[in-house]
Amino acid sequence: MQMKKSIYRVALRSFLAFSLTTTTFSSLMAAADAKEGEKVWKKINCALCHDKKGEGKAKGTPLKLNAMKGPPIAGLNEQYIVKQMTAIHDGSRKTAYTNTMKLKIKNLTPQDIENVSAYVATLSSTKIKGMLE
Ligand code: HEC
Repeated sequence: MQMKKSIYRVALRSFLAFSLTTTTFSSLMAAADAKEGEKVWKKINCALCHDKKGEGKAKGTPLKLNAMKGPPIAGLNEQYIVKQMTAIHDGSRKTAYTNTMKLKIKNLTPQDIENVSAYVATLSSTKIKGMLE
């Protein structure tokens, strides 16, 4: 009887340890990961339109945008980047210039968008306002 009880206790303890580990692991998975985001940045080649460090290829005030010349994005607020990328991805933000970026990012998952936004947010410590802020 005593033996059975201790086996039960060990089993219970490892079950608890296991569930704690999985909880910690899944919350880590959901957090934005800038290192993974850098891979997304390179794979999609955001620099093609937003320049090497996200300083933007469209210049001037107002910005001289075209499908291949994106606005500056380095220094934008991370949550703003997530929101705008999601809107371009799902088509709710649609201008004459968004279609090429939409096609480029069409296979990104919400997690990829979170990650690349975290990466973009590290590109500059000088804060800027977005086009829609
Ligand atoms: C083919 C060119 C192109 C590529 C590649 C591209 N973009 Fe864009 N992006 C644009 C253009 C053009 C706009 C402006 C859209 C508009 O007219 O509203 C834009 C807008 C944005 C905005 C919104 C800026 C604001 O101030 O509201 C963000 C954020 C952004 N892009 C991030 C990215 C990221 C991150 C990547 C790579 C995963 C990427 N873009 C790839 C062309 C591109």
